[in-house]
Amino acid sequence: MKINENDDFSFKKEIKLFEAFAGIGAQHKALKNVAKIMNWKIKVVGIIEWFIPAICSYIEIHSKKTFFKPISEKERQKILEKNFSLDSKKPVNSKRKSFIYSQYQEYIERSYKEFSNTFDISKTQYDEISKNIDIFTYSFPCQDLSNQGKQKGMNKNSGTKSSLLWEVERLLKDMNSNWNQKEMPKYLILENVPQIINKNNIKQLEKWIRVLEDLNYETKIYILNSSNFNSCQNRERAYCLSVRKDWKKEINFQFQNLEKIANKKIPLNKILDFNVDKKYFLPLLDKYSKTEFKLTKSNINKSRLINYTNFSSEAFIYDPNYNGPTLTASGANSRIKILTNNKIRRLSPKECSLYMGFSEKDYQNIKKTNLSENKIIYLFGNSIVVNVLEEIYKTLRF
Ligand SMILES: C[S@@+](CC[C@H](N)C(=O)[O-])C[C@H]1O[C@@H](n2cnc3c(N)ncnc32)[C@H](O)[C@@H]1O
Repeated sequence: MKINENDDFSFKKEIKLFEAFAGIGAQHKALKNVAKIMNWKIKVVGIIEWFIPAICSYIEIHSKKTFFKPISEKERQKILEKNFSLDSKKPVNSKRKSFIYSQYQEYIERSYKEFSNTFDISKTQYDEISKNIDIFTYSFPCQDLSNQGKQKGMNKNSGTKSSLLWEVERLLKDMNSNWNQKEMPKYLILENVPQIINKNNIKQLEKWIRVLEDLNYETKIYILNSSNFNSCQNRERAYCLSVRKDWKKEINFQFQNLEKIANKKIPLNKILDFNVDKKYFLPLLDKYSKTEFKLTKSNINKSRLINYTNFSSEAFIYDPNYNGPTLTASGANSRIKILTNNKIRRLSPKECSLYMGFSEKDYQNIKKTNLSENKIIYLFGNSIVVNVLEEIYKTLRF
């Protein structure tokens, strides 16, 4: 046999990732970072994401941008049977679908070709998903669980965005009925707001964990704050890590005590751009008097502008020598205000990228989409702090 000099003889372990509700791909980003340390090779075998700005950003961050070969008419028709969304909440109406497709054609087709995107989860079938996935992630929409939203919950058939969790149930059950146990994903990772364990939602979460149990998965729930994981952001989130039981036994997998991790607190000023553009300064706010800065239990030092607005959350300003608050996709915390050298300013989208554990290059790449700065911050606010995912991945064994 002739040896091909392009063959890879380092025999790195290949880890296959599947990202449902992929967004801008925090899961992919974290796995890439850990793969460098663990000497893994990673392959994204599929994603599910229907929101056009997220699809475009995902491509700009993660695609190798090799030569783009247009797809066949048959494949195009297949994509057009799916749904896309321009607001991440509802599908684009069928009459506008072809037009929207043509506007974002290269992004849509790249995400289909390079990452096997199936777009709308409710239109995804189990046989579009590849067998033998190592890590299957599903950070489903949180708006009906979080304190920001109306808390309509995630009950099956309730029609809420958070009830899309049960689409994951449909897919996993169909896989389970049609595949061998060994072909099922080894690990499943859910990320969502910590309200998923509050009294409104815990019954549904317990029901979900029973479904996973029946599908032969053992699950541990972690409530982790990114400020313990070398991030300057105070962001508490729930993570459910499930492992296929036969795999757990085979490799003697042990769930680690990630809650015990408490790295030294990192101040917000670690990610600040000291040459930030003056457009981020808010000179009109400097004239308001402020309450005294108060240090919270979460190591956030904040003050309130007096008589500035009736929306109290909008009036907070943060001291960058301490941790910062959770960046959200909408509301006041999508416009985090800080006080630097006695001047009030907003965080820039580049700073929001670093705040979520993405890099400056990732931000420069997302900028190529021409999305507005607010939309870019929205995408970061919806994402996951990369540092926390890295620590979870480091506990996995293959
Ligand atoms: C909480 S965000 C997840 C963000 C992601 N983890 C990241 O790293 O950016 C939920 C995602 O689900 C997507 N989504 C909502 N409904 C969907 C649907 N029907 N099909 C596919 N994706 C959907 C949203 O567009 C959003 O990007």
